[in-house]
Amino acid sequence: MGRRWGLLVGVLGAVWLLGSGQGGRQPAESAAQRCFCQVSGYLDDCTCDVETIDRFNNYRLFPRLQNLLESDYFRYYKVNLKRPCPFWNDISQCGRRDCAVKPCQSDEVPDGIKSVSYKYSEEANSLIEECEQAERLGAVDESLSEETQKAVLQWTKHDDSSDNFCEADDIQSPDAEYVDLLLNPERYTGYKGPDAWKIWNVIYEENCFKPQTIKRPLNPLASGQGLCVEKRAFYRLISGLHASINVHLSARYLLQDTWLEKKWGHNVTEFQQRFDGILTKGEGPRRLKNLYFLYLIELRALSKVVPFFERPDFQLFTGNKIQDAENKMLLLEILHEIKSFPLHFDENSFFAGDKKEANKLKEDFRLHFRNISRIMDCVGCLKCRLWGKLQTQGLGTALKILFSEKLIANMPESGPSYEFHLTRQEIVSLFNAFGRISTSVKELENFRKLLQNIH
Ligand SMILES: *[C@@H]1O[C@H](CO)[C@@H](O)[C@H](O)[C@H]1NC(C)=O
Ligand SMILES: *[C@@H]1O[C@H](CO)[C@@H](O)[C@H](O)[C@H]1NC(C)=O
Repeated sequence: MGRRWGLLVGVLGAVWLLGSGQGGRQPAESAAQRCFCQVSGYLDDCTCDVETIDRFNNYRLFPRLQNLLESDYFRYYKVNLKRPCPFWNDISQCGRRDCAVKPCQSDEVPDGIKSVSYKYSEEANSLIEECEQAERLGAVDESLSEETQKAVLQWTKHDDSSDNFCEADDIQSPDAEYVDLLLNPERYTGYKGPDAWKIWNVIYEENCFKPQTIKRPLNPLASGQGLCVEKRAFYRLISGLHASINVHLSARYLLQDTWLEKKWGHNVTEFQQRFDGILTKGEGPRRLKNLYFLYLIELRALSKVVPFFERPDFQLFTGNKIQDAENKMLLLEILHEIKSFPLHFDENSFFAGDKKEANKLKEDFRLHFRNISRIMDCVGCLKCRLWGKLQTQGLGTALKILFSEKLIANMPESGPSYEFHLTRQEIVSLFNAFGRISTSVKELENFRKLLQNIH
């Protein structure tokens, strides 16, 4: 049954991918339709319809997710915003006040979060503390207990996991700081023009698989585009991320800026400039469709990683026992809700062909994505850099989950193997990134209404 669905979804996906490249549809009449013409009814790639996703997200998932993201565990994100851009030198730091990021004072962040990057269980904690202490003392291996040595080995192993899609920040670096995401919300900063364009151009031009450059399509259905399903999917993920960020910026636009008051809110004109079919020559509606694609991919990753979070010894550790237990309950509630979504995307249609070919493709995918995560260090506006890094790390984590052999080999009955791990950074970015896309889907509902009032 599952396999049949997979095949069906795979084929529909390919057909859809083909279709989405052309988009020569007559533009619809109203302002709302001009943006939303492609996001209504069936999204062929998941045999589900936009209305189902909207209802599921806006009323069942979104409110609870917001609750969870306000908790201490999820609001503090450690990030290095001072890493040099590896690709070019001339980054003009954006001097605007709205671009600034205010890092946390050291006493703001709960000790439980600060002491080690990843809290797994109390037992593991005491082992890690022993390790840390040993490290501080410059201990040599013999002085460590056998158990500690094993733990050290295990932690090192997680660190250089070959599954990673992102180049993670070295969060032990003195330049890495905790940021309170609630106090530094993603919103319009005025960072645009040539500098912002350069970033997205590099991402699209140099790092997305461009149709012309791929000579050897793997999927015959996609040969018209000269691009296999996976590479088009990669492009669509990036496009979906771009769209999502632009939805946020349009929804939290700086509407009023006087020395007395700043006001952020919806700017319909800005939204139209990004997504109106006529103003964007057909691109806008397609971008919104890619946003839903991204949503489904991350939703699927979350449903797949449920067993990891269900382990009895897993904690959202901040040191506050009662709060931590409540948060874990809320987290599992959300994950079970996600799991119950009946029409999940089937990632098995990716990388499904010849094993060797598929592995090479997956490796390609990974390298390109890592590159994109490094480009985030070149974003001139620190606020945008923060959210760019968080969202790419979150998407990278979702991809790691979807394509991890360790997870696949042991799913779904037996739960993920204990070799599969996520660091606190990965967990925080995964849920916050999904929270951003969930917010975007919710905001689309608002913009739809606002546009209906125009004409
Ligand atoms: C809304 O955005 C447009 C640019 O798309 C800008 O020209 C306009 O001033 C903005 N409106 C407000 C109220 O800020
Ligand atoms: C990584 O990005 C740089 C800068 O855009 C580019 O020169 C390089 O070819 C990219 N490599 C890959 C594998 O995408």
